[in-house]
Amino acid sequence: MLERINNPTQLKEDSDLDRALRPKTLNDFIGQNHLKELLEISIQAARLRGESLDHVLFYGPPGLGKTTLANIIAREMGVDITVSSGPVIEKPSDLAGILTNLGRHEALFIDEIHRLSHVIEEYIYPAMEDFEMEIILDSGPNSRTLKIPIENFTLIGATTRAGLLTPPLRDRFGIVLRLDYYDFDALFQIISRSAKLLNIPSDDEGIAELARRSRGTPRIANRLLRRVRDYAQIKGRGIIDKDIALSALQMLQVDHAGLDEMDKRILNTIIENYRGGPVGIKTIATAIGEDAGTIEEIFEPYLVQQGFLERSPQGRKVTFKAYRHLGLSPADSQSDIFQ
Ligand SMILES: Nc1ncnc2c1ncn2[C@@H]1O[C@H](COP(=O)(O)OP(=O)(O)OP(=O)(O)O)[C@@H](O)[C@H]1O
Ligand SMILES: [Mg+2]
Repeated sequence: MLERINNPTQLKEDSDLDRALRPKTLNDFIGQNHLKELLEISIQAARLRGESLDHVLFYGPPGLGKTTLANIIAREMGVDITVSSGPVIEKPSDLAGILTNLGRHEALFIDEIHRLSHVIEEYIYPAMEDFEMEIILDSGPNSRTLKIPIENFTLIGATTRAGLLTPPLRDRFGIVLRLDYYDFDALFQIISRSAKLLNIPSDDEGIAELARRSRGTPRIANRLLRRVRDYAQIKGRGIIDKDIALSALQMLQVDHAGLDEMDKRILNTIIENYRGGPVGIKTIATAIGEDAGTIEEIFEPYLVQQGFLERSPQGRKVTFKAYRHLGLSPADSQSDIFQ
């Protein structure tokens, strides 16, 4: 995949920073207020009753805080968390190893839970429902199932592709929470908090520019902050103010709506090659030379959320807002200059 400054998935350069800046408590976690309130009540109630928390599923685009929240839940519940992911749990014995090692009320975090195989899923159902694992011994006429009890635990699943989750798995989560893109105010607070933690001098106007262009995504906000800090040190006096932020973001090719070259290429391709759409996602992907799943998961959600792109059963269509943003008009894509 293209290395983009506003790629919401985790890049290698992010990992240390992610860890340093990751909020540790619900109180530190900024934004997503509705979700936070629901979680807070569920956690307090479970604690009062002395029970494990219901299984929790987080879904939403990359970089919005799913992993962060999984860790916060464990901390707020006062339990340990075991971290795994869908593609890593290959065999039933892998799962058995993990489940039988869980202590009472502990959390098991399965990232990319949509990538669990169907075989493993079948084993997870009784674990989630009855806290037992059924192992099949021998095969053929002598086969027996052995039920292994496991501790009451909380499964926390995370996925960027909720649509790929099978209904029976999804239905077994008592708490299903969707993460949305963050608004300007929340991003402003997140960047201010990070700047303070990293001792980066900045003013409100500088932070505001970063917040506006962070694609609604805390991970991108933190990455922009770091890159703009470098710029401020080399080209300025080390302070992130409006001028420094603007010229740094221009150099990084992130425009005032947070769109980068790839976003614009997608919109331009639909306008120039397909008269603004509707056009299928696979066709767009081929024209751009990018994977269809990547476009669907990473680029499209933000373009749709910001009103640059519309999804319909016939395919993707650019909006008037997209034409305006690119300095074009719908009439342009009908004329011959693009044919
Ligand atoms: N609400 C928040 N307040 C402050 N910082 C946040 C918040 N949410 C996320 N972050 C920051 O963004 C980074 C990315 O978040 P996180 O790794 O939890 O995202 P994710 O949803 O798990 O992404 P992925 O889908 O790629 O796994 C975190 O390390 C943290 O620094
Ligand atoms: Mg994650």
